[in-house]
Amino acid sequence: MTSDELRKKFLGFFAERDHRIVQPAPLIPSDPTTLFTIAGMQQFVPAFRGEVPPPAPRVATCQKCLRIDDLEQVGRTPRHETFFEMLGNFSFGDYFKREAIAWAWQLVTKDLDIPADRLWITIYPKDDEARAIWRGDINLPDERIVPVEDNWWPTGGGLGPCGPDTEIIYDAGEQLGCAKPDCGPACDCNRWNEVWNLVFQQYNRVEDGSLADLPTQNIDTGMGLERLAMIIQGCSTIFDTDLFRPIMYYIAEMARAADGSFRYGANPQADEAARIISDHARAVTFMAADGVTPSNEGRGYVLRRLIRRSARLGRRLNLPTPFMSRICPVVVRHMGDAYPELTDRQDVVVKFVQAEEHRFDETLEQGSLLLERVIERVKSAGAATIPGETAFELYDTYGFPYELTVEIAAEHGLAVEEQQFLHAMEGQRERARAAAAQSFAYRGTEGYGAAAGTTEFCGYEELTVTATILHLIKDGKEVENARAGDKVEVILDYSPFYAEAGGQVGDTGLLDAEATRARVEDAHHPAEGVHALRVVVEQGELVRGEQVHASVDAERRHAITRAHTATHLLHHALRTVLGPHAVQSGSLVERDRLRFDFAHFAPLTPEEIRQVEDVVNRRVLDLCPVTATLVPMAEARKAGAIALFGEKYGDEVRMVGIGDFSTELCAGTHAPNTGAVGTFKLVAQSSIGAGLRRVEALTGLAALEHVRREEGALARSAELLRAAREDVPTRIETLQRELRDAQRRIESLQSRGAAAVADELVGKAQAVEDARVVAGRTVNLSAEALRNLADVVLERLGGGVVVLGTEADGKVLFVGEVSKDLTERGVHAGRLVGDVAKTAGGGGGGRPDFAQAGGRDPSKLDEALSTVADLVRRQLAGKE
Ligand code: SER
Repeated sequence: MTSDELRKKFLGFFAERDHRIVQPAPLIPSDPTTLFTIAGMQQFVPAFRGEVPPPAPRVATCQKCLRIDDLEQVGRTPRHETFFEMLGNFSFGDYFKREAIAWAWQLVTKDLDIPADRLWITIYPKDDEARAIWRGDINLPDERIVPVEDNWWPTGGGLGPCGPDTEIIYDAGEQLGCAKPDCGPACDCNRWNEVWNLVFQQYNRVEDGSLADLPTQNIDTGMGLERLAMIIQGCSTIFDTDLFRPIMYYIAEMARAADGSFRYGANPQADEAARIISDHARAVTFMAADGVTPSNEGRGYVLRRLIRRSARLGRRLNLPTPFMSRICPVVVRHMGDAYPELTDRQDVVVKFVQAEEHRFDETLEQGSLLLERVIERVKSAGAATIPGETAFELYDTYGFPYELTVEIAAEHGLAVEEQQFLHAMEGQRERARAAAAQSFAYRGTEGYGAAAGTTEFCGYEELTVTATILHLIKDGKEVENARAGDKVEVILDYSPFYAEAGGQVGDTGLLDAEATRARVEDAHHPAEGVHALRVVVEQGELVRGEQVHASVDAERRHAITRAHTATHLLHHALRTVLGPHAVQSGSLVERDRLRFDFAHFAPLTPEEIRQVEDVVNRRVLDLCPVTATLVPMAEARKAGAIALFGEKYGDEVRMVGIGDFSTELCAGTHAPNTGAVGTFKLVAQSSIGAGLRRVEALTGLAALEHVRREEGALARSAELLRAAREDVPTRIETLQRELRDAQRRIESLQSRGAAAVADELVGKAQAVEDARVVAGRTVNLSAEALRNLADVVLERLGGGVVVLGTEADGKVLFVGEVSKDLTERGVHAGRLVGDVAKTAGGGGGGRPDFAQAGGRDPSKLDEALSTVADLVRRQLAGKE
């Protein structure tokens, strides 16, 4: 049975048993605190918890999943992988253990025909109910049912829905066993293959680690498609199944084309590389198709790592770079029917992967050159090891992977001082820690040390409060008071001022008391946990320990808030219009103005710009509610959200949701509903690096103002053109055409005029010995026109000397040309024109055949030209 048939068989089996077939969730969950979809049940967590109704009481899926915990095992064992497909059936308070077990057994042993005597069962030791079902309903002997303490999902005691599970294990034969005395169905060795995991989701693990009952008793099962295919297709590894074969085959072909020697099965090292690359190619294709782009954090970092890891392993097979971007289309071709999003996004996937391969290539190229030099030095010194510090420098400064240094060194029979390298790495970590500590100290420990964590930000709800001054810091030192004219930093116990973070600028406003007035120019976090206001005292004095009335400039804040809510809408719109790869990489949120950076390859077309504006403005018109909720840090940490955002958060993270279409981790201030954004208008776009674009947009009255300015410019243009506004473009087209025609007429008249002038000048030629010499004055001409004229005159003359002079802008310009026969006889245009120009108060020079010069005195122009004949004569005689 092909894997395609297996998918269909599984879903069909459960469809016949009243299950609704639900589409797989994206690999990237909409919940920003979770890195990847790791199981079929993930999209149903809220339904298990009773927070939302399930799509149906019974559901079945084939879910794309990604797990990176086993990365080191991939390719080394027959069955580990990063990307996989999980077949699962789910019950939401509908059927429970009895049906789940009976159906699983029937599907495996009857419909899929796996011999029952190859199968073993593991159960949770205390789950007597499951044991009774396997014994009584299925009729399995006791010795086939093995209690295993680990049979609880999720393993490791994670928060959320959980419960005991029972697993169906396939025995691949004693010859594959590890021969350890306790080797059994729960053993990790290659003999035992977990086929299917049936989880009885009936508990919810809460913060303190205890178990609460879920509102209903549920079923969540998961069967890995690749492992199932391996058993059904009688393969010894998943890489031999039809799921991997086309990819493995393509890699082998590329390797053979490169050096002709590759044969699968001949060299374990090379085979392993091919298996890892085929696994990573699937993961990379699916991730990129779901919108992940390479970066240095979170999901993007995982993608980068998989691409670079593959690129490195490709060397073992001599694969020509870039090659991952060539394998991706093979994955798409092979999986595109089951996952149409792959076909839709193939172009974007290939582009991003290729760009990343190129970036890595550059890193490698630079590092390799340096390493070669090091190797030469080490060898000529007769040493056998490369210093660890050198390996570290390559890594630290050039991003050159350590493993690669080791690999290349080994090719030259050299080792790398590993201890030294590790030591240098540790040193770097120390320095980073020290630098972080120092930057804190630099900003004035005296001032801020005591201030960390003392301010409560109340600016989400309030814009004016009465607060107490906890600290006053002047020039990095704590002071007791600040007087009119002083610039100080103020730390309050309650602050309504938003301190700059996450792209949103800090608030401004006022601090005042009876006779005191101080302007808040900015609010920022000068050190972790410190909430400081930059303040100028205008009147009276601020005294430490005293109360002030603190008020945010509300109009400005509202404008910033509008822009921030619009930023989330824009992110949503870009991903809707351009595709899920258009992920935010940075932003700046100011009053009614925002700048937004995101991953994308090409400039936005006018049509795309219009669509993006439409999506945002429609969401604005829909008055979608904006909500902010705090999510426990533990939940975010569990899923790796910290790595994802690269920023530090407190015990809870703030999740900002708009309608049901946008969720982001965000500390910023937001409008209660999208209607407050007013008008949204994109006003600029640019490129800010490989695969990164920037757009700028306006909101609220600023957007209106922008439209008015543009409208004003159009109105003025219409006025100048004496046309109706809508006729401006056609009017400009007509004018441009007329202008072009007029220019053409002028040019033709000029050349006709020039020809007449040339004739006249040729007619005035004088003979100097046997040479014909023209020295003449023309009407006001540009340098270029004068040169052209000289060309024509010399040509009509059929050889000789031409010197022309003109008056331009109160100065004099000369051009001289000499034909070849005369330059050979000693006439030199450069010297000639230089001498002529002297008479007109200037100078210049040039080549023997061509020269130009300037003069300051137009009144001497004729006199200067009158010297030409004599000068030529002297040159011919060899006197000049
Ligand atoms: N959630 C379980 C697993 O991932 C069964 O689907 O193994």
